[in-house]
Amino acid sequence: MKRIGILTGGGDAPGLNAAIRAVVKTSLGVYGNEVYGIRRGYGGLLAEGGVFPLDYAAVRGILPQGGTILGAASRGNPFAFQVKENGQMVTRDGSDQVIDRIKDLGLDMIIAIGGDGTLAIARELIRKGAPIVGIPKTIDNDVIGTEMTIGYDTAVGMATDALDRLHTTAEAHHRAMVLELMGRYAGYIALMAGVSGGADVILIPEIPFRYEAIFKKIQARVDRGAHFSLLAVSEGALPVAGERIYQDVEVVGQPRLGGIGEQVAEQIEAHCAVEARATVLGHLQRGGSPTPYDRWLASQFGAVAARLAAENRVGRMAALVHGRVTDIDLVESQGKAREVDPNGAGVQTARGLGICMGDRYDAHHEIEE
Ligand code: F6P
Repeated sequence: MKRIGILTGGGDAPGLNAAIRAVVKTSLGVYGNEVYGIRRGYGGLLAEGGVFPLDYAAVRGILPQGGTILGAASRGNPFAFQVKENGQMVTRDGSDQVIDRIKDLGLDMIIAIGGDGTLAIARELIRKGAPIVGIPKTIDNDVIGTEMTIGYDTAVGMATDALDRLHTTAEAHHRAMVLELMGRYAGYIALMAGVSGGADVILIPEIPFRYEAIFKKIQARVDRGAHFSLLAVSEGALPVAGERIYQDVEVVGQPRLGGIGEQVAEQIEAHCAVEARATVLGHLQRGGSPTPYDRWLASQFGAVAARLAAENRVGRMAALVHGRVTDIDLVESQGKAREVDPNGAGVQTARGLGICMGDRYDAHHEIEE
């Protein structure tokens, strides 16, 4: 019988509980292993009461719940733990302690559910001898090596619903409505929700935009009698030769993005004959009940991770490859975040629908209806 620890690192994403449930049920029921929950990321390994047994009762009823029963920790890097010493916050490398603790607890494997940050830490810990397998999650869908991550589908659903709602009020008031969406440096949420929600303009980090192209698109719509426009804007979108907008917040390791939506709306009002408003969807994209697809993906990833743990396959990660759930080397998920291909089918589909991607204005799409 093996002892398996499970943790959720980084920001939460809808579907984490479905993955935890699948790991517990499959490990107990199929492989006869024990599962222990680790609270609030890697840091839980060192915290008092941070590791506790997970049985069937512990995962009962959690399938449709958002968040994570284990708690999330965005700043829980064991190589740079934030600790209070003499009343001051200092950064300390606690990786050796984490590895010792895994041994002391008799954990044969840790299943780390996380995005690029948590998985990068997993790779480093594995190099130092820790037994870890991974499950990719993040609403941004930007983990290399997998076509889909847990949480993305739910976030796109929220974003599409928000665009649908903005559509009716935009039409009623003859306004340009800008929706700022999450995704950091990857535009997957904005692209998919923008196409699904009928946006007229989609701005993503992978395609730097020109204000002129956006103004032309919106003005052309006004000129032909479509007095409203919908814009789906990724928080990491930026103008050609311009810079990303960060909020004035000091966060260890990860500056906080936000503000581009408001800026785009201001520019539209100043240059087009239309009123504009900006909405930031923010953490609504991460909250609430996961969609059936996220529950399905998370359950399958959980089952894969339970098998990997049972087979002692250190350094593997559950992944969706060519539409099939499988496992890959964690090293394959290493590197820069996975980005939208600016020449790929998704962007081409958007352009074909007459959506302005911000880099240019295609006048031939402005056909009288
Ligand atoms: O990576 C997931 C994500 O939701 C990003 O889309 C967003 O930029 C970031 O996390 C927000 O982080 P926090 O919850 O720390 O504000």
